[in-house]
Amino acid sequence: MAFTVQDHYFRKAKKEHYLARAIYKLEEIQKKYRILRGGNRVLDLGASPGSWIQLASGIVGPSGLVVGIDLKPIGHVFPAYVTTVQGDIFDREFVDATLAPFIPFDVVLSDMAPSTSGVKVADSARCALLFERAFEIALTALRPGGTFLAKIFQGSEFHQLLSDVKKYFGQTRVVKPEASRKQSKEIYILALNLKQK
Ligand SMILES: C[S@@+](CC[C@H](N)C(=O)[O-])C[C@H]1O[C@@H](n2cnc3c(N)ncnc32)[C@H](O)[C@@H]1O
Repeated sequence: MAFTVQDHYFRKAKKEHYLARAIYKLEEIQKKYRILRGGNRVLDLGASPGSWIQLASGIVGPSGLVVGIDLKPIGHVFPAYVTTVQGDIFDREFVDATLAPFIPFDVVLSDMAPSTSGVKVADSARCALLFERAFEIALTALRPGGTFLAKIFQGSEFHQLLSDVKKYFGQTRVVKPEASRKQSKEIYILALNLKQK
């Protein structure tokens, strides 16, 4: 669920009518790195309930577009330049068919997370698989020069995946937003300037 622990960011999100506290993580990254700009074409993987779409669609505006994909339905009504689709990012046919009309994107976001089991090694491995798949999608869907931002857990897979990402992008940053719960192992890899394919 989006609103589970009622912390500062949870209350702030409710008050400001955002769909999830997760919005403040992207907002912080946006303030620091300006990864989203007016007119951008944005793909948001793991988009439900939709707070990242709220922020991204407000920034890109009607001259851009946002496509959100999630296993869960995204019930919120967004402006016409936002498309939301329910499905599994591991279903290749579904992903290819969904993205074909929109490619290329300027920015690919992934806030995907597995349902956690509490077993750290298993959770981190599942999150790494989601990251890897998001990375694979980003490499096919982004334009050269594009930006990839994705969540990953700090586990044994992290360093290898970071070094894989570095091969394809001009710059990478590892970001732990203030709004990310301190006890959470989540961090974000931000990769800027996709090299020519
Ligand atoms: C932390 S939530 C995303 C919150 C979202 N960024 C927001 O701001 O509202 C993580 C999402 O990843 C989705 N997810 C996990 N595995 C997925 C998969 N295989 N395909 C698509 N979505 C997936 C979950 O259903 C969940 O909604």
